[in-house]
Amino acid sequence: MCGIVGYIGEDEKKEILLEGLKELEYRGYDSAGIAVIDKEHLESFKAVGKLENLIRKTQDFKAPGFGVAIGHTRWATHGKPTELNAHPHLGKYSYVVHNGIIENYQELKKELINSGINFLSQTDTEVIVHLFEKYKEELNDNFEAFKKTIERIDGAYAILLITKDEPDTIFFAKNGSPLLIGFNDKNEVFFASSDTAIIGKANRVYYLEDGEFGYAKKDKVVLFDKDGNLKEINTKPLATDKLSAQKEGFRFFMEKEIYEQSNVVVDTMLGRVLDSEIVFDEIKEGFLDGIDAIKICACGTSYHSALASSYLFERIAKIRCDVEIASEFRYKEPLLSKDTLFITISQSGETADTLEALKMAKRAGLKSLTICNVDNSSIVRESDVALLTRAGIEKGVASTKAFATQTLLLWMFVLYLASKRGVISKEFLEEEIRHLRETPKALKVTDKLHSKIHRLSKRYLHGHGFFFIGRDIFYPLALEGALKLKEISYLHAEGYPAGEMKHGPIALADSELFTIALMPKTLLYEKIKSNVEELSARDATILAISPEPFELADDFIQTKYATHPMIEFFEMMVITQLLAMEVAIRLGNDVDMPRNLAKSVTVE
Ligand code: M6R
Repeated sequence: MCGIVGYIGEDEKKEILLEGLKELEYRGYDSAGIAVIDKEHLESFKAVGKLENLIRKTQDFKAPGFGVAIGHTRWATHGKPTELNAHPHLGKYSYVVHNGIIENYQELKKELINSGINFLSQTDTEVIVHLFEKYKEELNDNFEAFKKTIERIDGAYAILLITKDEPDTIFFAKNGSPLLIGFNDKNEVFFASSDTAIIGKANRVYYLEDGEFGYAKKDKVVLFDKDGNLKEINTKPLATDKLSAQKEGFRFFMEKEIYEQSNVVVDTMLGRVLDSEIVFDEIKEGFLDGIDAIKICACGTSYHSALASSYLFERIAKIRCDVEIASEFRYKEPLLSKDTLFITISQSGETADTLEALKMAKRAGLKSLTICNVDNSSIVRESDVALLTRAGIEKGVASTKAFATQTLLLWMFVLYLASKRGVISKEFLEEEIRHLRETPKALKVTDKLHSKIHRLSKRYLHGHGFFFIGRDIFYPLALEGALKLKEISYLHAEGYPAGEMKHGPIALADSELFTIALMPKTLLYEKIKSNVEELSARDATILAISPEPFELADDFIQTKYATHPMIEFFEMMVITQLLAMEVAIRLGNDVDMPRNLAKSVTVE
């Protein structure tokens, strides 16, 4: 969580920081701040709330000429979202920005207070700058003081520190939270927690590894590895495609991303789905040898795609598949055996719980594979094999196109594994491939569908709750539909297996309970129909989504008759996404940046 930017160079530093922070605002937007050192002259600004507030506050501030600068957009972990708690944090003559959590900050804070230091904020971060200045006084060397500071802190961090005492330098360190360094031909140096912040400014990039630290000046960046050895910086070219991160005429990024789904699934299949074969060049010959079970760990939406795939792994690939929420997995002392392929799923590739679950599995000697949308992210780098979802940058906090591509890629991987295991026939695989190729069409948003959902949404702005119900793979889709709605509308919604309603939740049924019933025709139609009838008999308001007209429905969205459950799945997925978005827009919410959430959850 939180976004970090840093800059060393001659350009207008305020603009560079604010532009970078704008790109990172999805990582946290409780407050934001910048600090600039310009020939020993130190300036800082902070503002609570969205970046707009900081932009307004710094309107008259200019920072041209050579200098160093750092900025931060915050998602509060320790301490409320106030100006005092916003970064950068000031010592006597130095500033720090930090992403992550310092786990031993209380003990360090006590020690610093006992030595006479005053704290202004409630954050864990502030200890860093005071420790640094304390060691500076003791050691009389800025870099040694910085080194000693990071030796003392435990936890996850990406840190940038600047000091009036060495006004041409940024000190940096990374452990567990993402940080990269960007370079260009003008000898400028950039830092950021994600590359979108520096696209168009830098042309080469280095992604720091855990435990790395160092210092940067105009013409030189000095890097050390986790053991303190000097390390060469091998940069990679930085992506240039920023256009795809713009809204392109849609009201919200989420809306644009829903519409993009039909195209991004084509990219996901490109070069992988052939006429009678699924190919993953990323998976080396022999990698799956000896694998007899699958364990998937993920969080949120990614967990829902995992859950949907577990039905396919067992039904099609005939392999045992368990799915676990990463934050639960971490502390349950799981029993892991080496015949299990450990799969993680993550849009961002930075989710702390998923990353930690992966590290645990690796320590237990399991082979690992990730399905991820961000190349070079921490989870990708940590995994043996990475299958990228190719969804493009997803900016809306509510995940949509990432979910579509994750689910599609999992379906592809199931088929790949099934044919490697020899449990499906050539004819079956070719038939599945034919259906895979129908997905782009199933994901197309027509004007007719969108305006129907827009009209219908006005009836769903009140009530005492929503139940999304489905069976089989439509149960995880029900969970996902409910998550989408609650994330952006702030209305209470639950996803439930349709057959479970009578074991308790049906007690809630009345006309103010809205049931969104996923009623595919290709899978267990008669079963779900009777579950919905039971709810209707108790006067629940039913919105049925189905190809088959359903006379007890209060509202009905008709889908196309399909011949494969996954095609029905994708069509219904789009409907639930649009419904959530239209309800949230009517309620006046910021769909892209819903309250209390952040795009990338890098704290546990
Ligand atoms: O980046 P990840 O896929 O690992 O993120 C996991 C969840 O935090 C994420 O899916 C979250 O639930 C989204 N806000 C859902 O829309």
